[in-house]
Amino acid sequence: MENMENAIEIRDMTKYFKVHNEKMHTLKERILYFGRGQAEIHRVLNHINLDIKKGETVALIGTNGSGKSTLLKLMTKIIYPNEGTVETNGKLTSLLELGAGFHIEFSGRENIYFNASIFGLTRKEIDERIDEIIEFSELEDFIDQPIRTYSSGMYMRLAFSVAINVDADILLIDEILAVGDQHFQDKCYAKLRQLRDSGKTIVIVSHSLGVVQELCRRAIWIYHGDFKLDGAPSYVIEEYLKQIALDNQQRRARNKTLGMYKNQGVLYIDTPVESSIYRKAEKTKIFNGWMVTDSAMARLRVSLDGKELEGITRHRREDVYRAYYEQYAGFLDVDTLGWEKVIDLSQLDNGEHQLKAECMEPNGTVLYSMVNIFSVID
Ligand SMILES: Nc1ncnc2c1ncn2[C@@H]1O[C@H](COP(=O)(O)OP(=O)(O)OP(=O)(O)O)[C@@H](O)[C@H]1O
Ligand SMILES: [Mg+2]
Repeated sequence: MENMENAIEIRDMTKYFKVHNEKMHTLKERILYFGRGQAEIHRVLNHINLDIKKGETVALIGTNGSGKSTLLKLMTKIIYPNEGTVETNGKLTSLLELGAGFHIEFSGRENIYFNASIFGLTRKEIDERIDEIIEFSELEDFIDQPIRTYSSGMYMRLAFSVAINVDADILLIDEILAVGDQHFQDKCYAKLRQLRDSGKTIVIVSHSLGVVQELCRRAIWIYHGDFKLDGAPSYVIEEYLKQIALDNQQRRARNKTLGMYKNQGVLYIDTPVESSIYRKAEKTKIFNGWMVTDSAMARLRVSLDGKELEGITRHRREDVYRAYYEQYAGFLDVDTLGWEKVIDLSQLDNGEHQLKAECMEPNGTVLYSMVNIFSVID
């Protein structure tokens, strides 16, 4: 380490993978060309320089395939750079892909012992903490079952609970928190805030930009393996979204001229949920949902029993925006993603009704639609 204040120091680091020539599709071709130098060098990270100080909370952001997970693996030292150096200072723990370091035929409890011992805890230390680890994971009822029976969310609960209980100085976390349910995610982020405030170094890879902004003091944007921007999360995220919007628009325009792209849309009916039953005594009900599309011309059509509803209002949907910003960046207006309409239940006959939402091009092509059936009774 050059600077002892640093937890992580990366110097002029390049990582590449050898990949087989993509043109060789068949097994026969692969066998014929095996060992004849058909492998191509695929550069994943280019000349990265990075200092992360002790106690910093840093987010790595970037589109799929930009090199974020590879960078975390290099920090964890499960893979090594081809050029340059990656050094870390302090006890390090990481949550990478699900399952790394776990044995599926063994129980949750046994895996806590395996996993925590990899991080350097003695049997006695683990004995002292195991109750706390199990409690945090909320897996009490499943802890003596083999973990091959676990769901991915349960797996993550176990891995996270161990990782935060091994007294590491540096915590590296890849996306995996996203597989937890809302309750457990909230709990994980609360724990991470607590670790952050107690001076731990945290590096987190995430596509949840809201989380990045709230948890981290610094964000680093990796763009096609290059170090693109480093700074305050709000600023880095803003620039990142601008670039995605530009890339999306260019890619779609190019593919459209090639006849390879059709406009897309996604929409949803939040209320009424399928098969809901309303009493006329409730008088009115707000029906609502959301729609995203990359078509400038497409419009929303909401119909009740086949008849288009007038007076649909549009409103802000932050959650929808966050879920689709990468795929639809440059096409989304956060203020109008939601739609709603007040329905007068007393005007409806008793029995089943059908609410349909459609994302429709001017020529009548329906990009996406959804139907929910609901009933009205006295
Ligand atoms: N073992 C490997 N062999 C060959 N190529 C690899 C290997 N690991 C990663 N890559 C390539 O490296 C690039 C970066 O992958 P990486 O997993 O770091 O991306 P990422 O930024 O984490 O993306 P995501 O957001 O999808 O998780 C990708 O093009 C991927 O195909
Ligand atoms: Mg990744």
